[in-house]
Amino acid sequence: MRRKFLLGNWKMNKTPEEARSFLQGVGPLLSLAESHGVDIGIAPTFLAIPAVLENAPEGLIVASQNVNEHEKGAYTGEVSAPMLRAVGVTHAIIGHSERREYEGETSSRCHEKILALLKEGLVPVYCCGESLETFEKGETASFVERQVREAFAGLSGEEARKVVVAYEPIWAIGTGKSASAEIAEGTILMIRNVLRDMFGEVAEEIRILYGGSVKPGNVRAYMGCPDIDGALVGGASLDPESYRQLLEGMIL
Ligand code: PGA
Repeated sequence: MRRKFLLGNWKMNKTPEEARSFLQGVGPLLSLAESHGVDIGIAPTFLAIPAVLENAPEGLIVASQNVNEHEKGAYTGEVSAPMLRAVGVTHAIIGHSERREYEGETSSRCHEKILALLKEGLVPVYCCGESLETFEKGETASFVERQVREAFAGLSGEEARKVVVAYEPIWAIGTGKSASAEIAEGTILMIRNVLRDMFGEVAEEIRILYGGSVKPGNVRAYMGCPDIDGALVGGASLDPESYRQLLEGMIL
């Protein structure tokens, strides 16, 4: 059984003060999530991470939105996996389409980041997904398959099972134009088949989330799909009330 996972990606939003105020209502959500076997978490900016760690109720997953693949050294502006671990972060989003687009992040670089995170015992949340152009050309499957193969290349089954995948079609991110549950399930099933080809039965244990304009009103439809194990949520994770409704939509 794969545990469901709701992860809020705050992107470049919330000061430490705003993060603290969000957390005030989150305590009761954790017991609700726990009683339904759901993991919940948020990915604040690096600057807000300490405030979140200090104020988070026990069990809330705290993720970073990026990590550098090197341990330390002359990489101005970067943060490494050992540094994240040292402060208590347990998960890191990598390969988000906004970083691929604006920061030149590639799937092969994400492979290095996966290795760096696993070495520290951190969970990589590896994002993949196609552009509108690729989607309209009907090339989603081959494009996303390549992203998955490049990032997972050479991992052992033991390593692969620790990685979380998030399928986020770029045309659905922040646009309000979510992929239908059928489209999301279709691509996520394809990803699972690629992982099965690479790692055999371990693929059944790898969690694959959907992301892209997930809202309280549509989360239930995604969670009704057999291969979708949760959601990576941007905009709708910023407001505590909306975050609560997302969780309720996932479990009820
Ligand atoms: P969105 O963002 O929910 O605002 O579309 C999702 C993401 O980028 O992770």
